[in-house]
Amino acid sequence: MRHSTRRLGVLTGGGDCPGLNAVIRAIVRTAHNDHNMEVIGFADGYEGLIENRYRILNTQDVSGILSRGGTILGTSNRADPFKYPVLQGDHEYVYLDRSDQGVLNFESLGLDSLIAIGGDGTMAASAGMAAKGLPIVGVPKTIDNDLVGTDVTFGFDSALTIATEAIDRIHTTAQSHHRVMIIEVMGRYAGWLALGSGLAGGGDIILLPEIPYELNTICEAIKRRNAEGKNFSIVVVGEGVRSVGGQMHVSRTIKNSPDTIRLGGISHQIATQLEALINIECRVTILGHLLRGGSPTAHDRLLAMRFGVEAAHMAAEGKHGRMVALKGTDISSVPISEVAGKQRKVTPDHPWVKAAVSLGICLGAPVGQLTEEYATQ
Ligand code: F6P
Repeated sequence: MRHSTRRLGVLTGGGDCPGLNAVIRAIVRTAHNDHNMEVIGFADGYEGLIENRYRILNTQDVSGILSRGGTILGTSNRADPFKYPVLQGDHEYVYLDRSDQGVLNFESLGLDSLIAIGGDGTMAASAGMAAKGLPIVGVPKTIDNDLVGTDVTFGFDSALTIATEAIDRIHTTAQSHHRVMIIEVMGRYAGWLALGSGLAGGGDIILLPEIPYELNTICEAIKRRNAEGKNFSIVVVGEGVRSVGGQMHVSRTIKNSPDTIRLGGISHQIATQLEALINIECRVTILGHLLRGGSPTAHDRLLAMRFGVEAAHMAAEGKHGRMVALKGTDISSVPISEVAGKQRKVTPDHPWVKAAVSLGICLGAPVGQLTEEYATQ
């Protein structure tokens, strides 16, 4: 069904993060002000498109949401249209390809474009829906900062800021009690949050999923600090780390999610092992979902706004099949198909890694081995 006014759909998929509402607000206002387009917001990511749950978004609906965390639309990290979980009985799921239903609902609503705001799962689903002919524009979000094609995702700076504040607070207890304080941050298989917050928070040891760690190297670093008269240490751990030859710590598996693995908790194991090797008390703080909540930083608000404005322009101008991106200081775009199914990880030549080495921060492996360890990933 065609509408006289052009219509734009928007959804937020995957884990929530600060800045989603700032993007939604920017899309609605730009669509209304510059393009006279009507905006429809789908509930709970691709679930809303498949199940036809939506509402019209007017400028009043997005008033006052700029600084609010979460997403007014709701989200889901389980709604892959191509492997859609459908409950059978009380607990069992079957997985059906509901992508055609999504296309049908899109068409019957008379939509001209769909803006999908999300991380790698949402971009993978969007690439599939785009291949079926849906005119999609992607917007990159995630606290993990692990999307390829963009220098940074929105949400990352807010999570980094919260983690850094937490490390600052834990520092004082580490000093007072002469302890090893281990702070674990989210980030899945990428170490951006651990490395960024570890550097900004003055961490002494930073463990990344990209560099398998050796307990001995960590012990040596702690002993070296003690010998220098520093009788406490701050260890920042990415949730996806593993020891050389070891495994990541899976805290739970979620059957009906595209990525079934949930990480978190390896720090307890590291603390127990360190205490057995050196005579110093360890404590663990797992920051977890604290990193995803609350208001976006000014940096994330600005980035989210610029992404939202650009995405609305692209949708109105028919520049589909692309994800908006930040390159240097400029907003540009990349094909969604080039983003889907990939992960951007911390590389050994990244300036943050080089800075950590120059600052004498222990990265869990002897400096000379860093490149070698990376090579074996
Ligand atoms: O991708 C964002 C993220 O917060 C990861 O850092 C974390 O591993 C995962 O989502 C947690 O997922 P859930 O909210 O389903 O527990």
